[in-house]
Amino acid sequence: MPRGSASIKAPSHIQKMICCAQFLELVLASMKKIVLIGYGSQARSWGQNLRDSGWSVSILLRENSPSQQTCHETGFQTLILKKGIEKILLSENPKPLLACLIPDHIVPDFFQEHRPLFESIEKGTLVFAHGYAPHFLKASLPQHLDWILVAPKAIGPAVRKLYLEKKSLAGALAVKDPTNENSWKQAKLLATDLGIQTHQFKTTFKDGTLADLFSEQVLLCGGIPRLLQTAYQFLIDQGVNPKLAYYECVQELKLIVDLIVEDGIQGMFQKISPTALFGSVSTSKTFLPTENLKENMASIWKHLESGAFTQEFDTEKETQFKNLVSFKKSLANSPLEKIWAELENPK
Ligand SMILES: NC(=O)c1ccc[n+]([C@@H]2O[C@H](COP(=O)([O-])OP(=O)(O)OC[C@H]3O[C@@H](n4cnc5c(N)ncnc54)[C@H](OP(=O)(O)O)[C@@H]3O)[C@@H](O)[C@H]2O)c1
Repeated sequence: MPRGSASIKAPSHIQKMICCAQFLELVLASMKKIVLIGYGSQARSWGQNLRDSGWSVSILLRENSPSQQTCHETGFQTLILKKGIEKILLSENPKPLLACLIPDHIVPDFFQEHRPLFESIEKGTLVFAHGYAPHFLKASLPQHLDWILVAPKAIGPAVRKLYLEKKSLAGALAVKDPTNENSWKQAKLLATDLGIQTHQFKTTFKDGTLADLFSEQVLLCGGIPRLLQTAYQFLIDQGVNPKLAYYECVQELKLIVDLIVEDGIQGMFQKISPTALFGSVSTSKTFLPTENLKENMASIWKHLESGAFTQEFDTEKETQFKNLVSFKKSLANSPLEKIWAELENPK
């Protein structure tokens, strides 16, 4: 207490308020405990962001994990999975959140392997960074535990970068029982401290998952890369200088997307030249007819919603991702990849 203030006493109602605030702080602090399973792309950012936001973070890794070194370099002690889970989940109170930051298709094998441990826990909350497992693979999860989804709308490294730059990140939030206010509170507290502050979008596991997979397949990882590769190859086949073709297709796409995010589609159309505007209005509807697009989108949605996509993915997993491995190999020698390496990665 500062000198001279010993005789000054706050009125009793103020003292009660201070006690209440201190109590709330203690309650909140005790809730800020999390165990991350895995230390991959998302987990590295989650661990560092949450630690900087005052959370107690533990990392569980499988034996001989190659991520141990990275964990230690970022200042985390690691625990080996089986013993770590036993130690943390069977002894600590209140129980920490348990974030499954492992690849989605591994989740059923993981819970199968550790089933007796999870069954021995009476209460607890599993956190997912993607709704794929809680929506499509829910039968494989421990049914008696609570599940929440905090899915950042960014790749792992961007989750850390935006946090450090104090820029808000967007994220999808869902809980197993939407009527449970405590689960929502937990999800919001976790999201906020991860850096998802203003753009917390409440959703369901189903909508969050289908929307994410749909946009990946139709636009981000499916439609746009295919358009880029096809348009680039077409220009080359017409004899256009490959470097110029690369800029027309790839670099200019980035500039247009930045413009759309800053000014909206209408703002972008106001800023481009009249020739570009006329060309886009007159030819885009014949190139990509709206009715065909809608039909194709509806069949992709149905493919996802029915679980057919998940079944095909499981079949591919059983082959050790044979097709995906050869697809990645074939890309390494594609003309677009070669020109990218030449222009963007000068040695
Ligand atoms: N990547 C993204 O940018 C992104 C974006 C949004 C959401 N998500 C979601 O975030 C979650 C994690 O994805 P990620 O991309 O961060 O994963 P990742 O980079 O592939 O990291 C996977 C981690 O899981 C561990 N792991 C793999 N198999 C395991 C097993 N059988 N038992 C225990 N640990 C195992 C790996 O361990 P080792 O270190 O020992 O190899 C690694 O540390 C997923 O739900 C994903 O959908 C990811």
